[in-house]
Amino acid sequence: MTIKTVNQIEIITKEAGKINSCNMPDYKAMYTGFDWKNAYDNVSWFDNGKLNAGYNCFDKHLGTPVENKDALIWEGATGEIEKYTYGQMAQLSNKFSNVLTDTGIKKGDRVFIFLPKIPEVYVTFVGILKTGAIAGTMFSAFGKEALIDRLGDSEAKMVITTPELKPRIDEIRDQLPKLENVLVVDNRDGQDIRQGELSYSKLMQGASDEYDCVHTDPEDYSFMLYTSGTTGKSKGIVHAHLGIVQQDLTANIVLDLKEDDIYWCTADHGWVTGVSYGILGPFSNGVTQVVYEGRFDAAKWYEVIDKHKVTVWYTAPTAIRMLMKTPEVADNYSFKSLRYILSVGEPLNPEAIRFGLKAYGLAFHDTWWQTETGSIMITNYCCMDIKLGSMGKPFPGITAAIIDDEGNIVPPGTPGLLALKPGWPSQLREVWQNEPKFKEYFETGWYVSGDKAYEDTDGYFWFIGRADDVIMTAGERVGPFEVESALVEHPSIAEAGVIGKPDPTRGEIIKAFITLREGYSASDELLDDIKKFVKKHLAGHAYPREIDIVESLPKTRSGKIMRRVLKARELGLPVGDVATLEED
Ligand code: PRX
Repeated sequence: MTIKTVNQIEIITKEAGKINSCNMPDYKAMYTGFDWKNAYDNVSWFDNGKLNAGYNCFDKHLGTPVENKDALIWEGATGEIEKYTYGQMAQLSNKFSNVLTDTGIKKGDRVFIFLPKIPEVYVTFVGILKTGAIAGTMFSAFGKEALIDRLGDSEAKMVITTPELKPRIDEIRDQLPKLENVLVVDNRDGQDIRQGELSYSKLMQGASDEYDCVHTDPEDYSFMLYTSGTTGKSKGIVHAHLGIVQQDLTANIVLDLKEDDIYWCTADHGWVTGVSYGILGPFSNGVTQVVYEGRFDAAKWYEVIDKHKVTVWYTAPTAIRMLMKTPEVADNYSFKSLRYILSVGEPLNPEAIRFGLKAYGLAFHDTWWQTETGSIMITNYCCMDIKLGSMGKPFPGITAAIIDDEGNIVPPGTPGLLALKPGWPSQLREVWQNEPKFKEYFETGWYVSGDKAYEDTDGYFWFIGRADDVIMTAGERVGPFEVESALVEHPSIAEAGVIGKPDPTRGEIIKAFITLREGYSASDELLDDIKKFVKKHLAGHAYPREIDIVESLPKTRSGKIMRRVLKARELGLPVGDVATLEED
């Protein structure tokens, strides 16, 4: 693959001969006249129009050649390897569905997974879906506040965790009256289960491996994930079982997954990528997934690719930029197995694509989507030329547009709000018990994403930035309000304003501006104490890496902190319209 430049835009032209082997060889042909209904038959339905996304992960493959193939190749942080076939995963998830049923979990109940990247994530997630309960996932780095927000708001009945992570739940359990059970995945540590807790290993041992998957309605809820907006607490984004139609098809067409692929998605299951493309889409397609439990390390990641013969790799720009810091490490690995690579979560810089070509001989394909969209909406396809820096084109069945504030489509090349025509299968169904927040997305008649972008005359979409104050740091979405709320919990802090500051590796880092209460004065000790405090209260990705103590914060007359002004000042840019500015 080579890059050519046309009208100052770098383009990778796909070779005609290779396009034929893409799962979708002709984008235009598929996009034109596409009807979601025709994709419904790609997944397995029960008689009478019922559908269960969990059933589509493992059970539907029973009795097919996929049954005896590895669903999961898991490598632990210390190098141990475990493999599970589709048949085994079907049985294990059946057992877990029985465990849930025996403990009183019913359709519609919320069950949350707070686990590191271990095989039980997949067993429990699918087991929950098969009972008709709603699965919630949480990132293992979440601290107290993030956990209370999620478990409290969703009124979760059960949380599944490990002995290692459990102390964080213990600390907040008395604030969660609806949480009936803490189920501890104990077999990996052999630790004793305490009173009031359930033992995963014991219950699984006693459970039958036969289970009649609940015949859920396609519109019944399947999973939920909390994500940040500009204001207020995290929102519980709820998805329905019908979404599997789209996760299945996009995994096939965008990830280009084929029967013999060994696929590695580096995202954690606590984020939507780890659910839609770390569980649902790939398992529904019957491929083998590699899961690596350990942290980022260039040599280790490359070793995972070579050792497990990964063919398709889905990762994120921050990880790619970290790999770019040590380009020589790539020289020690062959990447012989690798055939297709993709990226998600942040703008994919042209340098990252150039680096991929050089290091692995492959071009990263960008994919754009959100927790709310449930699956990939705009992307660069296997069969389509890549314009470096562009997110690509909408998926068949998706109408994307750039609109103004009133919902009018703007001409090509004009920046505006990136919007989607509502009605796709994996679209969010609810913001958990928050109808006004849900409605906010659709006020213009479009689903408005919160991103700014433009469309070029060839129909490629180009990302500009967030239209709101939401921060994207290392591919993870952080609401400034949550960080500000955690900061003002510190006794010395009067007020806080938080912004995303551009960073060459992480996209953005979180920067906080704080004012002190009377009686406190700025010192290195105080700053250290504040840093420790926020680290304890916020998840690893969400704590501010920079904190400035300031005399005052820019505010509107109604008292709202103007983050836009803080950001402009930080970047040395014009502050724009400050008619409503009042500094105190
Ligand atoms: O700002 C966009 C950015 O990530 C946001 C969605 O975040 P989240 O719901 O956490 O889901 C992330 C993974 C699906 C978007 O509003 N984003 C996502 N993909 C891209 C992106 N920004 C630029 N380019 C992308 N490909």
